[in-house]
Amino acid sequence: MIQDDHTPLWGGRFEKAPAAALQEFGASLPVDKRLWAQDIAGSKAHARMLAAQGILSQEDAELIVAGLDAIGEQIAAGDFDFDIVDEDIHMSIERALTERIGDAGRRLHTGRSRNDQVATDARLYCKQQASALAGQLLKARETLILVAQAHRDVILPGYTHMQKAQPVLFSHHLLAYSWMLARDFKRMIAARDAADASPLGAAALAGTSYPLNRQQTAAELGFSAVIPNSLDAVSDRDFMLDLVYACSTAMIHLSRLSEELILWSTEEFGFITLDDTYATGSSIMPQKKNPDFAELVRGKTGRVVGDLVGLLTVLKGLPLAYNKDLQEDKEGTFDAIDTLSASLAAVTGMLATLRVNADVMLEAAQGGFMAATDLADFLVGTGMPFREAHEVVGRIVLHAEKKQCTLQQISMAELREFSAAFDESVSEVIDIAAVVSRRTTEGGTSPSSVEIQIAQARKQLEDDQRSL
Ligand code: ARG
Repeated sequence: MIQDDHTPLWGGRFEKAPAAALQEFGASLPVDKRLWAQDIAGSKAHARMLAAQGILSQEDAELIVAGLDAIGEQIAAGDFDFDIVDEDIHMSIERALTERIGDAGRRLHTGRSRNDQVATDARLYCKQQASALAGQLLKARETLILVAQAHRDVILPGYTHMQKAQPVLFSHHLLAYSWMLARDFKRMIAARDAADASPLGAAALAGTSYPLNRQQTAAELGFSAVIPNSLDAVSDRDFMLDLVYACSTAMIHLSRLSEELILWSTEEFGFITLDDTYATGSSIMPQKKNPDFAELVRGKTGRVVGDLVGLLTVLKGLPLAYNKDLQEDKEGTFDAIDTLSASLAAVTGMLATLRVNADVMLEAAQGGFMAATDLADFLVGTGMPFREAHEVVGRIVLHAEKKQCTLQQISMAELREFSAAFDESVSEVIDIAAVVSRRTTEGGTSPSSVEIQIAQARKQLEDDQRSL
């Protein structure tokens, strides 16, 4: 092929340029250009190692490093001319380097392939992003714990099957989410660590005949290990799966929380009021205040789960070693990272600014006969077998439902018609605050149990903060 400015860097064995219509199809530049900083770091480490091993002259290595730094500044300043003809970020930077420093630039790719190069860039990027997301998860957790602490004594109905079940503390409810995010943090750290090994030096697939020092490039790039098998090094994307999976579970937790925020901010529930800064209006209905951001977090969870399934499906059935299918790994991974990051910011902001309508929650907790289990337990305390007590209280609930009153509103005389075992002391037992206070199981909803849980959640948070 006649060489000109737009000839691909691999043009030697070709007689014709690629079909123009397919150029965009084959290119990954619009997606992978965000790897520019990692690509430059990887190339600098490779050039220095080549010089240290006597494969490249010291002068050439210095020219390469200075040239790459200058290109990095240019990209950071937004002055770099990305051209789709270059196919991907690796070719873009190599071409720019050669334009800048001539022959030394053409020597950079000695003993390297884009296959180990892209795996190196992707691992560096995933490592950094997993750390950043882990930091955001810590912030969201801290906010949950702070809101829980600020509303320690607020009681709301607890639900099973979306039916009122037993009253719980609002702080207890929020802490449940803090533990979900604590597990997400662990998964995120595991994903970070999965990316922490260097593929550089694997070259195309088989290693090279140059005396590379893989330990040196790994150390310079901050990797804790070298990937032991060159075929595995260029074809493994497990670290991306781990990261996208960690993003997926975190999104699912944020989505479940968002669903509750949406429900709680309806007129029917009214448990919370979202701050104006985290709600939007309608273009036609002047009265509306919509929980759009919570809805979007819930909706975007579908994308991230899709990113995970997409990546799993790309990898399924790929023979060793590199296949161009692997170029499809990045778009979904980047999308999962971006979506979780934006969703964490949205949810953290919503939590930090929402108003808790404690009186509405408490009022709702009076309904639904939620002291029924305690009423049965009272009878058990008088010696009645639990199954019989369950039956008696079931009939009392039916009675109250027909009378449209709460359990607490039933008179002593009426109660005694259902069982002579009832006495005056039952009223303290079925008081909603007492129902909550009595659940002193480790991990339960009583104020004393929740106080311990706040301390546990704080301690785990502080340990995780220190470990990051
Ligand atoms: N843009 C490619 C990717 O993202 C880089 C590796 C290309 N390697 C190759 N042999 N064509 O996977």
